[in-house]
Amino acid sequence: DMFAHPSTQQNLDRLRSFGNRIIEPAEGELASHLVGKGRMEEPDKIVAVLDDFFASQIQLEKKKIVITAGPTYEKIDPVRFIGNYSSGKMGFALAEACAGQGAEVTLIAGPVSLKTVHPNIKRIDVESAEEMYHAAMEAFPEADAGILCAAVADYRPDVQATEKIKRETKGEMTLLLVPNKDIAASLGAIKREGQILVGFALETNDETAHAEGKLKRKNLDFIVLNSLRDAGAGFRCDTNKITIIDKEGEATAYPLKSKQGVAVDIINKLATLLK
Ligand code: C5P
Repeated sequence: DMFAHPSTQQNLDRLRSFGNRIIEPAEGELASHLVGKGRMEEPDKIVAVLDDFFASQIQLEKKKIVITAGPTYEKIDPVRFIGNYSSGKMGFALAEACAGQGAEVTLIAGPVSLKTVHPNIKRIDVESAEEMYHAAMEAFPEADAGILCAAVADYRPDVQATEKIKRETKGEMTLLLVPNKDIAASLGAIKREGQILVGFALETNDETAHAEGKLKRKNLDFIVLNSLRDAGAGFRCDTNKITIIDKEGEATAYPLKSKQGVAVDIINKLATLLK
C-alpha cells in the first residue's frame, strides 16, 4: 500500500523527470521474485543489481579530464573587480560525475563557494582568466578530454591599480579594457588526435547559429548550448536545459533536468567519442 500510495508514486515520477534512474525489477521479474509490489527484495539480489548498475556507469575509467568552472574575476584595484553571475554549479556537477565514473579530474575553478567531494578531483583555484588560461594550458596536454564550462571574462582592465582608486571629485571615469585569451580556442589549437574538447555556449538570441560558430572557431568536438530564454537554465539555477550540437551538425535537445542529470547526458556523449 505504501508503494502504491500517490505520494510515493509522485516522488518517483519527480525523480524520473529530473533524469534520475530508478532501479526497478521488470514486471515479469516482480512476479517471480516478489510476493507483492513494494516488498523488499532479497539483499543478495539487491547487491547484484547494484553491481550491474554501477559497472554500466563506469564509462571513464582512468581517463584524464580537465574541467574549467565558475566565473573569473578581473581586478580593477585591490578591492574591485569585473566578474559575472556564474556559480560554478554545472562545472562542479560535471567534475563529480566524471570522477564518479572513474576519471581522474583536474578541476580549474574560478572564485566560487562550492566544495569538491570526490577524492579523484584535483582542484586548482584561480581568480583571473589569465591564471585560468595558464592552468588549463599546462593540464590539457596530459588529458584525454577538456570540458570548458567556465564563464571566462572576455576583457580585463588594461591597468590594475595597486592602490584603491579614489572617487573623482567630479566627472566621469573611464576604464580601458583589453581582451583576454580565449582558453577554449587556445586548447582547440593544440588539441592532439584523439583528444576531445567540449565547450559551452550560453546565448540570449540566435542560439544555434552562435553555438555552431563557436564550435568551429574553437575547434571543439561538441558544444553544449543553453539559452537564457529558457526558464530554469543558466546561471545560479540548480537545473539546466541543454542542446548538444556536435561537429557533424547533429543537434540533440534534452528536457529540463538537475545539473547532475545534465552532467550525465554530457558524459554519455563524451564517452561515445573517447572509445
Ligand atoms: O565565446 P564564448 O565565451 O561564448 O564561448 C563559450 C565557450 O568558450 C565556453 O566553453 C567557455 O568556457 C569558453 N571560453 C574560454 N575562454 C574565454 C572565453 C570563452 O575558454 N576567454
